[in-house]
Amino acid sequence: MLRFEGVTFCYPGDELGMVEDLSFQVEDCEFVAIIGASGCGKSTVFRLINGLERPDRGKILVDEKPIETIKNYSAFMPQKDLLFPWRSVEKNVCLPMELAKVSPAEQEKRAAQVLKQVGLADYAKKYPKDLSGGMKQRVAFARTLLSGADMLLLDEPFSALDYLTRVEMQEWLLEQWAHYHKTILFITHDVEEAIFLAKRIYIIQDARPFTQMESIEVPLGYPRNREALKQGEIVELKESLIGKLRRSVSL
Ligand SMILES: Nc1ncnc2c1ncn2[C@@H]1O[C@H](COP(=O)(O)OP(=O)(O)OP(=O)(O)O)[C@@H](O)[C@H]1O
Ligand SMILES: [Mg+2]
Repeated sequence: MLRFEGVTFCYPGDELGMVEDLSFQVEDCEFVAIIGASGCGKSTVFRLINGLERPDRGKILVDEKPIETIKNYSAFMPQKDLLFPWRSVEKNVCLPMELAKVSPAEQEKRAAQVLKQVGLADYAKKYPKDLSGGMKQRVAFARTLLSGADMLLLDEPFSALDYLTRVEMQEWLLEQWAHYHKTILFITHDVEEAIFLAKRIYIIQDARPFTQMESIEVPLGYPRNREALKQGEIVELKESLIGKLRRSVSL
């Protein structure tokens, strides 16, 4: 579904460059995690995918079409929930549909459906201040879904949550993924989170600019439960990924 072909990108005025001649791909409906040290360029990859930044060289294709020629193929959910405090939950969720000029009746119908699906049907008329951190992330996710895009770019969506809420949100996200059949790219610092969620992990190990991401298959099927994280093979995978990240930091 998504393919980078020899993409090079450097922020204006930056001497090092961010990515150089980078190629990788993500299949339809895949769940891929991206891990790498802070500042290595993970969020920049998302900015390139959603067209906020343009490559200096190379191509980014979605379903074999250059992204400059298509619209609404990806939806981005940032680290902080970015809900508007003066809008109710329902109105926050409707925002992408308002921008797309969907009729108010249709907006209401779709918002009600998605809020039910994410377990927040009773909170439609509440405001962000009335919700817990995990609930706010669910609202932000619902809004991301209602953009109608097939590819969701989730940039450390759970990093601000406490451990238990985070674990619950991970399980919840896998249920949503199974339900909606979206392609998910998920940035995280947390190796265990990447292993629990993803079918495949891309790890960025190079010093800047990075030229490749190593692809690592997670040897677990779906549905998953946390017991699987205790398997010897998975514990070894986790240690090996942590080792790779540590080496990349010392480059
Ligand atoms: N708009 C920008 N203009 C110039 N430089 C930028 C811009 N955005 C990011 N950078 C620089 O590019 C580098 C990579 O940033 P990026 O946000 O992609 O890293 P990251 O891997 O997502 O880091 P983190 O894990 O901390 O979120 C950083 O050194 C950052 O200072
Ligand atoms: Mg980032």
